[in-house]
Amino acid sequence: MSDNKVQIFDTTLRDGEQVPGCKLNTDQKLIIAEQLDKLGVDIIEAGFPVSSPGDFKSVEAISKIVKNATVCGLTRSVENDIKVAAEALKYAKTPRIHTGIGTSDSHIKHKFRSNREAIIERAVKAVSYAKTFVEDVEFYAEDAGRTDNDYLAQVCEAVIKAGATVLNIPDTTGYCLPSEYGAKIKYLKENVKGIDKAILSCHCHNDLGLATANSIEGVINGARQIECTINGIGERAGNTALEEVVMILRQHPYLNLDTNIKSEMLYGLSQLVSDNMGIYTQPNKAIVGANAFAHSSGIHQDGVIKNRETYEIIDPKDVGVTESAIVLTARSGRAALAYRAKNIGYELTKLQLDEIYANFLDFADTKKEVDDNDIHYIIENSKVYKEITSA
Ligand code: KIV
Ligand code: ZN
Repeated sequence: MSDNKVQIFDTTLRDGEQVPGCKLNTDQKLIIAEQLDKLGVDIIEAGFPVSSPGDFKSVEAISKIVKNATVCGLTRSVENDIKVAAEALKYAKTPRIHTGIGTSDSHIKHKFRSNREAIIERAVKAVSYAKTFVEDVEFYAEDAGRTDNDYLAQVCEAVIKAGATVLNIPDTTGYCLPSEYGAKIKYLKENVKGIDKAILSCHCHNDLGLATANSIEGVINGARQIECTINGIGERAGNTALEEVVMILRQHPYLNLDTNIKSEMLYGLSQLVSDNMGIYTQPNKAIVGANAFAHSSGIHQDGVIKNRETYEIIDPKDVGVTESAIVLTARSGRAALAYRAKNIGYELTKLQLDEIYANFLDFADTKKEVDDNDIHYIIENSKVYKEITSA
């Protein structure tokens, strides 16, 4: 892997599917997995095989059909979880077991009623056991965001010695500030012996709306994998949104970090996941929301009609959206009305536009959005139009 490649680890089918009420059946998971593979994700986390017979079946079926990506299964640091995951992944061309344990004092004390030394022992045992099945073993230090950096470095060092190929540093509770999360990754890069043998991975939750920012800080500071989901879906406030991190790296080439994602497929994938899960995507969602390329205020519309780049930093075609939308509302200006009228066959002179625009404003005050049928109606009922047609 080149040093400026950021691996995209998609967990839509595992962390994403933890959204209450959004369970997918195996057929739906297969359709999504196939598209993720075509999208160019490097790793597909297909599920948590020990969690249910249905999830086992899905991970097994996905392992059989994925052509390019590594297929990954989640486990706890529990022998049976690891054995079952290995069994579910046995048909994968490149399988990965993702095992781990909570490392923050809160998890150690309340969840495991254990101590720091015993947690390291369990982590090492889990990684060593997973290595007996597969070469590629990712270790997650759950709640790493709230784990003391010095202890986290000890955990990382121990699991690298046991053979971990990827170290996942999850901000499980979405607590960290970007500067803190970036500093954590930097600290691990600088203080863990053997760190060059493993890839550091960002897995950030969005409880404070910082998941994307934290993941980007992570890769700027040396991580080379981002764990994310389509539309940012996931437990509670969700995960890092795949489409956001991909486009941030693409729009900032001077960072010299890129992914293998075919960005023109992003909008289609977003719709596919939203339809299958029955979760509607907020209209103002970055990159894939219905309004991400829609312009409705007069000043913006005038700029975009003259040159798209005045108010758009991304060409909509680059993410699979056919074109920017000029939405007509009572805040729209003449330029937008003339533009939309022209699209449906009316070439208006300045004088005609003056009268029709006044009628348009009266109409728009009564309606949220003025559509093409409304434009026909407004123009054809205006005095100036009647004059043209009777002349
Ligand atoms: O958020 C988290 O810590 C996780 C781990 C299980 C990887 O999802
Ligand atoms: Zn998570």
